[in-house]
Amino acid sequence: MFCALLSLALASFALLASAARYPSYGTLQTINSSGVLNVMINNTYSSVNLFDLHIQSDLANLIETLQANDTDIRVAVFSSANKDSFLAHININYFLPGYESPLPQFDPGLPGMVFPDALLWNITQLPQATIAVIEGFLMACDMRFASTSPSVILSQLETSLGANPGAAGAMYLSHLIGRGRTFEYVLSSYDVDAVTAERIGWINTAFATSS
Ligand SMILES: *[C@@H]1O[C@H](CO)[C@@H](O)[C@H](O)[C@H]1NC(C)=O
Ligand SMILES: *[C@@H]1O[C@H](CO)[C@@H](O)[C@H](O)[C@H]1NC(C)=O
Ligand SMILES: *[C@@H]1O[C@H](CO)[C@@H](O)[C@H](O)[C@H]1NC(C)=O
Ligand SMILES: *[C@@H]1O[C@H](CO)[C@@H](O)[C@H](O)[C@H]1NC(C)=O
Repeated sequence: MFCALLSLALASFALLASAARYPSYGTLQTINSSGVLNVMINNTYSSVNLFDLHIQSDLANLIETLQANDTDIRVAVFSSANKDSFLAHININYFLPGYESPLPQFDPGLPGMVFPDALLWNITQLPQATIAVIEGFLMACDMRFASTSPSVILSQLETSLGANPGAAGAMYLSHLIGRGRTFEYVLSSYDVDAVTAERIGWINTAFATSS
């Protein structure tokens, strides 16, 4: 009985693994209950939950599942396992010549887009409602809620690195906070707390948390 169960478990694991298009790194812990998929982002390869190839690969696999119009899932809620950093911006090594990744540079399905851009675009197109719960790819979600804890800071920080916001960040932001404020926050790289973010429309609601 035990052996039969074990081989059943192995068989279904193999099925799942072979169904995934990209390598799996286990950086997304999902709980699927009553139509709500809770996705906790836990990048064990990075102390700041860096939006690196591990998360991108796991997210691409998850998105593929959700794109198949999984009618059992109506809402996907993203949260972070890292109290200090919801997600840290993209791994800038990505731009170095010779950077090796198991992911393609351009998305095979959307060849005009680099892989992370296609990933975020696909999140905006999911049939499910997507919600980011922030206590520490926000803009590609449909809704955002953030804790008023001082550890919550939003920023469009690329300009301070001498870059411009990639993956359509400025375009998504301008739909939320308008053209004038988008220029202000993109050009300044200001830190934005949750209360300010709510006032200007960057997030839906700021809420107090006890911790
Ligand atoms: C969620 O669970 C339902 C059955 O309970 C299953 O049909 C569905 O594929 C699951 N979806 C995901 C994304 O895990
Ligand atoms: C999911 O639904 C959308 C919109 O109805 C449709 O365009 C798409 O082809 C469907 N995808 C799958 C995998 O069935
Ligand atoms: C994240 O994953 C690590 C390694 O599996 C685990 O020890 C840790 O508890 C996880 N964090 C949370 C908040 O679940
Ligand atoms: C995005 O979705 C398209 C289908 O619309 C698919 O071909 C492509 O592989 C997806 N890419 C990612 C990174 O999810």
